Amino acid sequence: MERLQKAIATSGYTSRRKAEDLIREGRVKVNGEVISEMGFKVKKGDLIMIDDKALEGQNKVYYVFYKPKGCICSLSDELGRKTVIDYFEDIKERIYPVGRLDYDTTGLLLMSNDGDFANLMMHPSSHLEKVYEVTVSGLVNGDTLHKLEKGVYLEGVKTLPCKIRVVGKDIEHQTTMLIIKLVEGKNRQVKKMFESMGHRVKRLHRSQIGYIHLKGLKPGEYRILKPQEVKEMKNIALAKKVKVRKNK
Ligand code: URA
Repeated sequence: MERLQKAIATSGYTSRRKAEDLIREGRVKVNGEVISEMGFKVKKGDLIMIDDKALEGQNKVYYVFYKPKGCICSLSDELGRKTVIDYFEDIKERIYPVGRLDYDTTGLLLMSNDGDFANLMMHPSSHLEKVYEVTVSGLVNGDTLHKLEKGVYLEGVKTLPCKIRVVGKDIEHQTTMLIIKLVEGKNRQVKKMFESMGHRVKRLHRSQIGYIHLKGLKPGEYRILKPQEVKEMKNIALAKKVKVRKNK
C-alpha cells in the first residue's frame, strides 16, 4: 500500500506536489472513483486514472493495428492529418505506436503504453524480423538483389544482411513485387535501400513482425495482443539480444 500521490509520482507522470494538486482538483480516479482525499492509499493492481486516462506503467495494454494509408504514426499532427491514435478513440490508456510506418505505408503496427516493451521491440539489438511486401519501379535484377541482401550504405552506414524474394514482375508497367525481411528498422529503410539502387518504392506494406501478423484484420482495425503473444515477442527479442552479444 502506498499513498496515491506517491504512486503517481513514482510512475514518472509528475512530481508528488503536482500529483497532490491533481488529486485536490478532482482529476484523479482510483478504480473508477474520484479520490480527492490526500491520505488515500492504493495497492498493487488498483487502476489509477488521471483525466480519465490510465496512468502509464499501470494496466499495460498491447494492440496489433492494421495501419491504413494516409495516417501518421504520432500522437498529434500540426498539419491536422489523421493519426494512428484516431483509430483508438475507445481506449482509455495513453497508448502510442511502437516504431513507425510512413504516411503512405500500410500494415502492421504494434501499439502499447508499455515503454519497456516498446524499447525492447525497437532496440536495434533485438533483431526482430519485419516482413514487408514491396512494389518498386523497374525490373529488379539478380545483381541488385544480391547487393541489397548483403547490405548497402545508407548515409555512411551499411545495412545488415536481409532476405529478399521476387514474387512477381509486371513487364507492361515495368514494376517488380518483392518480399523483404529485415531485422533492423532505420527511418524509411526499405525506401532508401531500393532508391539507392535506382528503384522507387510505389507500394509498401508490413505484413509481419516476429511471428505476429495481420490475419483477420482489415485496414483501420486492431486487436488486443494476447498476454502469451506479448511474452513470446519479448522472449524472441531478448533471445536475439543475447545471441548478438555472444557473437561479438
Ligand atoms: N521502411 C520504409 O521505407 N518505410 C516504412 O514505412 C517502413 C519501412
